[in-house]
Amino acid sequence: MKAAVFHKIGDISVDNVEDPRILHPEDIILKVTTTAICGSDLHIYDGFIPQLRDEVLGHEFMGIVEEVGPAVTKVKKGDRVVVPFTIACGNCFFCQQGYHPNCEHSNPEHYGPEGNLLDNKGGGMFGYTDLYGGYNGGQAEYVRVPYANAGPKIIPDGLTDEQVVFLTDIFPTGWSAVKWGKVKHGDTVVIFGSGPVGLMAQKAAWLNGAERVIAVDPLEYRLDKARAVNKVEAINSEDEDLMEKIRSMTAGRGADVAIDAVGMEANRTFMEKVKTVINAEKGTSKVIEMCTEAVRRNGIVSVVGVYGSPYDNFPIHRIFDKGLIMQFGQAQTHVYIDQCFEMVRSGRVVLDDIITHKLPLSMASEAYDMFKHKTDDCVKVILKPELDR
Ligand SMILES: NC(=O)c1ccc[n+]([C@@H]2O[C@H](COP(=O)([O-])OP(=O)(O)OC[C@H]3O[C@@H](n4cnc5c(N)ncnc54)[C@H](O)[C@@H]3O)[C@@H](O)[C@H]2O)c1
Ligand SMILES: [Zn+2]
Ligand SMILES: [Zn+2]
Repeated sequence: MKAAVFHKIGDISVDNVEDPRILHPEDIILKVTTTAICGSDLHIYDGFIPQLRDEVLGHEFMGIVEEVGPAVTKVKKGDRVVVPFTIACGNCFFCQQGYHPNCEHSNPEHYGPEGNLLDNKGGGMFGYTDLYGGYNGGQAEYVRVPYANAGPKIIPDGLTDEQVVFLTDIFPTGWSAVKWGKVKHGDTVVIFGSGPVGLMAQKAAWLNGAERVIAVDPLEYRLDKARAVNKVEAINSEDEDLMEKIRSMTAGRGADVAIDAVGMEANRTFMEKVKTVINAEKGTSKVIEMCTEAVRRNGIVSVVGVYGSPYDNFPIHRIFDKGLIMQFGQAQTHVYIDQCFEMVRSGRVVLDDIITHKLPLSMASEAYDMFKHKTDDCVKVILKPELDR
């Protein structure tokens, strides 16, 4: 089959690779109909999350069940499903509590309690390096999906792939960010990052009762997208008066909730890059720091942007002084996928309005390049193997 294979930093090509096979009784093989590129894939592409051998990338995908293992009861051949991006058994200590990203079974080689830089990680993820289980991903014609009784969700006819494919990751991720922020009626929510995840968090904030949603991003075309599809207020992150503007919109206090939908690859000045090198940090924690500034005292900072290293000079003092609450982590897709699906099915939210590029799988390499460099006003790329057939 054809698949987007990561070789080394900045080098992804669509190659012929071996077809996936059923390896465990609870596996299914999915024929991929739609897959997407995520900001999280860029962390591998850019070398912020290391991967030393070739791997098929892609954790956002959906398709048709082609083959089922003997222990699979939840889906059958021919079903159309979306698949949560974290791989989870559904039965362990963490899965039982809804923390599927910390599944104790899906990442046997590198799982552990400590959360170190290169070991003791959480559960597995599709196409997300050996540290997270070494599973091949879904930017491919076919993909093996383990624990098929726990993850895949059947999608009824009448909804297009484009309408539902973001249930695999970014909509439940935006939803998790908002739930972790305990957003309630009347809240002002400031969301750093207006990429795909930030845009989904904006939608989720409105659906959970926010009164004001403020988008922050350095890229004007992404702020324009946010204004157009989500009717939010928007401020450029490079604006010197950013914090004053946020406070002037919130009675001088700051936002009730601040969401980090950027992560460690935030824009950096030359001097910030020098500091990164001196401190041996991966990227920067500046957006979390901006969140702690923008949020009000006793407010909540909710972090779905990904971080991969320790950071020096982190403003613990401010977190203490303001009495902040913070929550971080991989999204609880397994927990929220049904609720998120219902929002789409009932028409309360539209997700496909963020798609700017629909390309054949064979153009994955060009698509990565465009998404990374933010050219052609790219916001979200979906790839379709069928456009090659
Ligand atoms: N926690 C999870 O489960 C989960 C799931 C999906 C994605 N993510 C992470 O979410 C983050 C965003 O993903 P994405 O697909 O939207 O990626 P993206 O790269 O398209 O979006 C990031 C956006 O942040 C903006 N940005 C850069 N510096 C900024 C700053 N200082 N202030 C405000 N905005 C700034 C960029 O211009 C860009 O628009 C990534 O770190 C990704 O890994 C996490
Ligand atoms: Zn993703
Ligand atoms: Zn588990």
